[in-house]
Order: sequence, then structure tokens, then C-alpha cells
Amino acid sequence: MKPTLPRALIPVLRRLDDGHFHSGQELAGEFGLSRASVCNLMSLAGDLGVRVHAVRGRGYRLPDAMTWLDVARVSQALAEYAPAFVVHIEEGVDSTNSRLMARAQAGAPEGTVVAVEYQLAGRGRRGRPWVAQLGGNLTFSVLWRFDGGLQAMNGLSLAVGLAVARAVKRSTVQPVGLKWPNDILVERRKLAGILIEAQGDMNEAAFAVVGVGLNVRLSPAQRLAIDQPVVDLVEIGASLDRNALLADCLREMHRAVAQFRTGGFAALRAAWAALDTYAGCAVCVHLADGQQFPGVAAGVDDSGAFLLRTPQGELRPFHGGEISLRLETAK
Ligand code: BTN
Repeated sequence: MKPTLPRALIPVLRRLDDGHFHSGQELAGEFGLSRASVCNLMSLAGDLGVRVHAVRGRGYRLPDAMTWLDVARVSQALAEYAPAFVVHIEEGVDSTNSRLMARAQAGAPEGTVVAVEYQLAGRGRRGRPWVAQLGGNLTFSVLWRFDGGLQAMNGLSLAVGLAVARAVKRSTVQPVGLKWPNDILVERRKLAGILIEAQGDMNEAAFAVVGVGLNVRLSPAQRLAIDQPVVDLVEIGASLDRNALLADCLREMHRAVAQFRTGGFAALRAAWAALDTYAGCAVCVHLADGQQFPGVAAGVDDSGAFLLRTPQGELRPFHGGEISLRLETAK
């Protein structure tokens, strides 16, 4: 059975979004629950990373304002790009990538988007989990179809990383950077990650499910659960309007994918290089089989491969997949 959230959880949290206290009795009456169920829901919300302010005799309130995802608001913010997307917003799913993959296999059109408030089994690159908090992350997947098959997707992952970085840059004065292949960083801490899952023929019809997870407001517990330096939008003073940010990401992706279709990654390479956080740094490339290659990061080539300047002075390309890039100083 697929994991789910209790049906009343998000409606009750939405009710608390006005910043005022609501008593357990009032919420129980409004949502047809027992007071004990309301109490359990609030405790679950806390476990999922939502700060709930509970005061005996007054009830519950949410101290942090939340903008809940809303299809109408996303469409409005998309403006002239709205017809290019079919946006589905769900409360809790296992993984938006898995959900969209199923829709893609069933023939969903390009531009189908699945965005959620919470993922029960979010997936990251290299088989890692993706840790995100209820309502505190922007978590979505977008479907792109390519007539030229899988081979036409070389460098797509960098193109969409650039698009997300551009969208974030609109809402903050902080410098936003990229780490190959497509992490979005601020002060070398990870703000967002992208997982692309592709299927189809090598040279004919194929599609890519592009999943984006972006930290909006991380709880202390979640920071501890993530094994690398992280940052969220709150820290960088960015707008926390997730509907506007989702629309910005979709719009920038639409533009980047259009450029990518006509000119390949080469058309976006200079823009990507301008945000390359690790260029010129001493790094080590870690392969899935345990091999390690130290050197200096030397940018990317026209196909999106990472270029390592080896200690022998050669330029060695590394292509996608199960590669991890680490700063030597981070050892
Ligand atoms: C990474 O490891 O950096 C990639 C993280 C990708 C997470 C996103 S959240 C939306 C989509 N659904 C998933 O299960 N994963 C991606």
C-alpha cells in the first residue's frame, strides 16, 4: 500500500494559517474529528517539521506563515506561460518523480507538473533519500518529451539546473551558484537539488521527469538529518511565496529547454559557467565504484560533461550518472 498522510492534516493546518489560535474543540467540530485526533494531527505535524504553537486553554496556531500551494495562484503567476503547463497539486505522495513517471507512462503531455506539500519517500541522486519538511520545501516534478530520444538529452540536467538557479536569483540579492551537475548553492551550501529520470528510445521518442527539491524553511531536526551543508530561503532573505517560485522555475525551465532543444547544452554553456561555483577549485571526483580522481575543476564541455584538470595537466571529462564531486578542502 502506498504511504499517505492523514486526510485531515493539511486542511487543519490550512485552517491555522491565519496566525490566530484555534481551540482543539473548534477544530474537532469543524473537521468532524475527536479532540484526541486533532491533538494527534498536531503532534504529527510537529514530527514532519511544522512548528506548531500549542497553548493550554487557547489551542493551536502556526507561528510561521505558510503559503500553501495553489493551482490558481501558480497559473496566475505563470501568465503567458500558463498554457504550456498542466499543474497538479497533491498533499502527500511517496515521490513526485514516481507519481509523474506513472502519468508519463500513461501518456501525460509534456508540461505536466506534479507539486506536493509533502513527500513520504522523496528520492535524491545516487540512491539517497531527499529530506524535506511538510510545507517547508518546494517539491515538484515536470515532464519534458524529446522526439530525438535519450541521446538528445545530453546536458539536459545542467540546463534545468541553470533554469532553477535563474528562478531563485529573481527572489534574492545573494549570489546563487551551481555545482555540477545541477545542485543549486548559496555560499557553497545546498539550496536545491534535481533528480532527472529518463525513459524511451535512444533515437526516437523519449521523456524526462525532472524533479526539483528546494529548501524553503528547514527545521533544526532536518538540518541534522542532511549530511551536507544546507541553506534555505529564509536564511537568504528570499521571498517565501512557493506559488510564485514554482511559476518562476517553470517559466525559466520552459525557456532553457527551448534553447536546449535548438542548440543543445552548448547554447547554455556560457551562462552555466558564469554560475559555476567550483571552477578553479581543487576537487576530487568520486565514482560509484570507489575510484577517486583529484584535480582542479575546469568547467564543463558542450555536452555538459564535467572537466577535471588532472595533476598531470590533462583535461579529463566525466559524464553524468553516479558521480560525486567534492571540494578537496571539505575532506
Ligand atoms: C539531489 O540528490 O540533489 C536530488 C534531489 C531531488 C529531490 C526532488 S524532490 C521532487 C522530486 N521527487 C523526488 O523523489 N525527488 C525529486
